[in-house]
Amino acid sequence: MTDRLTIRRPDDWHVHLRDGAMLEAVAQHSARQFARAIIMPNLTPPVTSIEAATAYRQRIMAALGEGATFTPLMTCYLTDGTDPAELERGHAEGVFTACKLYPAHATTNSAHGVTDIRALTGVLETMQRIGMPLLIHGEVTDKSIDIFDREAVFVERVLTPLVRDYPGLKIVLEHITTAEAAAFVAEADHPIAATITPQHLLINRNALFDGGLRPHAYCLPVLKREKHRLAVRQAAVSGSPRFFLGTDSAPHVVGAKESGCGCAGIFNAPFALEAYVRVFDEEGALDTFEGFASEHGARFYGLPLNEGTVTLVRDDVEVPASIGTGETAVVPFLAGTNAGWRFEG
Ligand code: NCD
Ligand code: ZN
Repeated sequence: MTDRLTIRRPDDWHVHLRDGAMLEAVAQHSARQFARAIIMPNLTPPVTSIEAATAYRQRIMAALGEGATFTPLMTCYLTDGTDPAELERGHAEGVFTACKLYPAHATTNSAHGVTDIRALTGVLETMQRIGMPLLIHGEVTDKSIDIFDREAVFVERVLTPLVRDYPGLKIVLEHITTAEAAAFVAEADHPIAATITPQHLLINRNALFDGGLRPHAYCLPVLKREKHRLAVRQAAVSGSPRFFLGTDSAPHVVGAKESGCGCAGIFNAPFALEAYVRVFDEEGALDTFEGFASEHGARFYGLPLNEGTVTLVRDDVEVPASIGTGETAVVPFLAGTNAGWRFEG
C-alpha cells in the first residue's frame, strides 16, 4: 500500500475565489495546494472586460500578499453583448486565458449569461481562430426539464451542434456529473476536455437528503445518482488526457447556505487534494493521479507543466466543522469527517 505520494505541483482548472473579505479569506487555501488556477468570472458585476480582469487579478495577488507564487489565470464572462475584438486583445495581452459561458440563470450570478449560444457566432469564430478555450457550464435552463437531466439534455441539444459547427473550437465542459457527459467528452472527435470536482467523485444525490436537508452538499450541477458518480469516477481515473482537476470550490457564508433558499456551491479548496487522492486510492489508480491533477489540464490549455512537487501522506486528518469567522465563516466540504490523507506541501 502506498502511504506517501509525491506528484508534480498541480493546478486547479476551475475555482471561485470571490472578492472582498471572502477573497482575502479563501485565496490562500487554493494557493497552498495549487500553482495556477482558472479563476471564475461570476462576480457581481461579472468580469467582462480586460480592465476588470486585470484589476481582479491584482486583488487576488494582493490578498495572497508579498512573495506569493500562485498564478491566477483569468477568464472573461460571456454575455450576449461580448465584443470579439476585446476577447482577442485580452487573449493576446495575456489577460484572458479563456472565456466562460454560463447559460443565463443556470447558476450563482449568471443573470448576465448568454441567452442563446447561436447568437455568439462572432465570438466563437474568433475564439476558434485564436485557440482560446471556451469553458462551459453545461446545463440547459429550461425549467420544464428535470433538474437532474439538465446536463444530459445540454450535451444533446447544445453541445452536439456546437462541436459540429465549430470543429476547431477548444472546449472544456466544466464540472461534469453524468455518464452522458463523460462519454461524450471521452469519445468526441473534437478538441474537448472536462473538469471534475471532488464532490461529484465522492458523493451522490443521497447526500442532499441524508437524514434531513443538507445545504452544504448542494452545488450546481446538482449531485446525480450513483451510476453517474461511478461513470464520472471511471473517467477521472482512466488516464485519459481529456479529464482533469477542477475543484469548482465555491464558498458561500454559512447563512447563505443554511437558508430558505440556499445558494449553490461547495467550498472544497482547503482539503481539495486530500479528497481527490482518496478517490484515486479507492479505485486502485494512484498511478493516474499525477496526470489528472498536474498534466492533462496544462497540456490541454497549451501551458507548460509546473516545476516542483507536492506530497500527500495517508493519515487521519479531521476536517473542521467551519473555516473562517463572521462574514467569511464557511462550512468546508467533508466537514467533521476524516479526510484520510494529509497535504504535506
Ligand atoms: C458556483 C458559485 O457559487 O459561484 N456554484 C456552484 O454550485 N458550482 C457557480 C457555478 O460554478 O455553477
Ligand atoms: Zn463553478
